[in-house]
Amino acid sequence: MESELIEKPNRTPPLLRISRFLLHYKGRMFLSLSLLSCLIAIEMILPQIIGSTINGLRISSEIHRPFDAKPFVLLFISLVLVRGGVGVILGPIRNRLIHLTLSDVRLAIYNSIQRLAFRYHDKVNSGELINRSTTDISRLQEFLLACLLLTLDIAGSLVATTVFIFLIHPALGWLTVFTAGPTIFLIVIYSRKLQPQWKSVHHLHGTMTTIIQENIAGVRVVKAFAREDAQIEKFKTQRDTYLHDLLKTVNYWASRVPFAQFVFGLSTPLILWVGGSKVIDHQLSVGDLAKVIFYLMAINHRVGMIGQFTNIIQNANSSSERILEIIHEKERLIDGQKIAPEIKGEVQFCQVSFGYKEALPALNGITFTATAGSTIGIVGATGAGKTTLVNLIPRFYDPIQGKILVDGVDIREFNLESYRQQIGIIFQETFLFTATIAENISYGRPDVTFEEIQRCSRAAQAEEFILGMEKGYNTLVGERGVSLSGGQKQSLAIARAFLMNPRILIFDDATASVDSHTEQLIRKAMQDLCKGRTSFVIAHRLSTVQSADYLLVLEEGRLVEQGTHEELLKKNGHYVSIFNQQIRKEPAFPS
Ligand SMILES: Nc1ncnc2c1ncn2[C@@H]1O[C@H](COP(=O)(O)OP(=O)(O)OP(=O)(O)O)[C@@H](O)[C@H]1O
Ligand SMILES: [Mg+2]
Repeated sequence: MESELIEKPNRTPPLLRISRFLLHYKGRMFLSLSLLSCLIAIEMILPQIIGSTINGLRISSEIHRPFDAKPFVLLFISLVLVRGGVGVILGPIRNRLIHLTLSDVRLAIYNSIQRLAFRYHDKVNSGELINRSTTDISRLQEFLLACLLLTLDIAGSLVATTVFIFLIHPALGWLTVFTAGPTIFLIVIYSRKLQPQWKSVHHLHGTMTTIIQENIAGVRVVKAFAREDAQIEKFKTQRDTYLHDLLKTVNYWASRVPFAQFVFGLSTPLILWVGGSKVIDHQLSVGDLAKVIFYLMAINHRVGMIGQFTNIIQNANSSSERILEIIHEKERLIDGQKIAPEIKGEVQFCQVSFGYKEALPALNGITFTATAGSTIGIVGATGAGKTTLVNLIPRFYDPIQGKILVDGVDIREFNLESYRQQIGIIFQETFLFTATIAENISYGRPDVTFEEIQRCSRAAQAEEFILGMEKGYNTLVGERGVSLSGGQKQSLAIARAFLMNPRILIFDDATASVDSHTEQLIRKAMQDLCKGRTSFVIAHRLSTVQSADYLLVLEEGRLVEQGTHEELLKKNGHYVSIFNQQIRKEPAFPS
């Protein structure tokens, strides 16, 4: 169905689309535009005063009468003062408008990144996302601060000036149009050609950021394999490609804009020539010719600026496109309307199939029922689909076929937040934020008391090692803090899950990497945590799951066996062969 809905490409330039964020501040926008119009009006009046003064002087000198220039001078000075005053008021209003707008864009990106489905995060790397939320925002900021009002000022001044020149003498008006027209046309053509080039430059910049980001995150692997030189070489190659494309783009612009400006530069000598002959023929006064020249000088100055800021606009335009791609990304789950009531915990998979990529199913027709409060052990070889299966329960992904029911309700009907709050997950890899141990434990419920945090740490068998640290619960962990072992991280993740008091618990393959003492502790904590909740426990060691109420055996995405430990032993099938393999490898733990 979705493929039938072919979306029309949006032809509005991205910069214009993103500028709609400015409309959140209509009052400030209106005030800025009014003050800007005021400035343009003053710019239009000043040449009129100069021209009228020259006309007055000429008439006075012809009829030998003294000329009173005082009113003209006073008016000129007053207007210049008003212009200064308006400029002083406009600056802070504009700055506030732009910084508020940029904050909104940043928030929109951040919101989007938080809400996007796992499918999106699977295909986009984090360096690219970081680049879009920082560098691209800076390019937009450069445009908004330096060019937004200037662009409107130039557009307004160009139109007003042309109209005034037409009013003074139509022939001079046409001369202006015939020189300004081709100039603007050429600049638009050059800019269009630049748009894809800038996009490619920004993409290369994103790739460069990804290399840096991966190098920082994977610094240990790089060093362990002594690949520093190879990494530096890889970065250099990427940097050279980026530099090459950047220079090509900038030089393309730099070599063509002067030509466009030259075409408009012809307007002043042409008007002096044509206008001068009209003055001699008494069709135009000297003062009026002076007005036209002053108008032309004003736009010439602005056309000169176009060359500099079109680059900024192009840059900001392609950055806006990259920002809007995130904000409007459709890869997100459709939230259900129903606020999830307190879950009892019966979980049913009905013919569930799922694939990360269309052609390759990771799960195929999975059907089973987990009764409320039971512990479900999931076993299978690496890559069998265990993590994939449990990832469907909190709706990290939706099935391609079939449905998952919790207490008889299709989970897609539930409001995600109210549903996920009742699920506790201990991931295969524990991620800790740069925060204190206490803050990491209370991440899901930041408002709990310290006593609660202590109680959960004790239940998770984590208190011993926490108190062994110099700052106890206030120890900073995560990327910038103390490094914890795999088992310690896992204990914190269990404490974090305890605190959420979830109705459904998912425990993904944790104890494989820890020593047997820590494993015993974690197993004890897990058994306590599982009590009274529907729990899905994935483990590579059968000893961890054989006490489960019900077992699922996965093989290449298919549920090949299910039942209790005893039932599966009797079947003498896949489970038994895995069991036998492991019994041979390790002595079973006393349960
Ligand atoms: N984000 C992803 N994008 C694409 N393919 C994926 C993704 N995650 C997993 N897969 C693929 O799906 C299949 C099942 O992976 P899954 O992680 O569920 O296995 P597993 O049983 O949990 O393995 P392990 O015991 O090693 O953790 C694998 O072939 C894997 O390559
Ligand atoms: Mg896994």
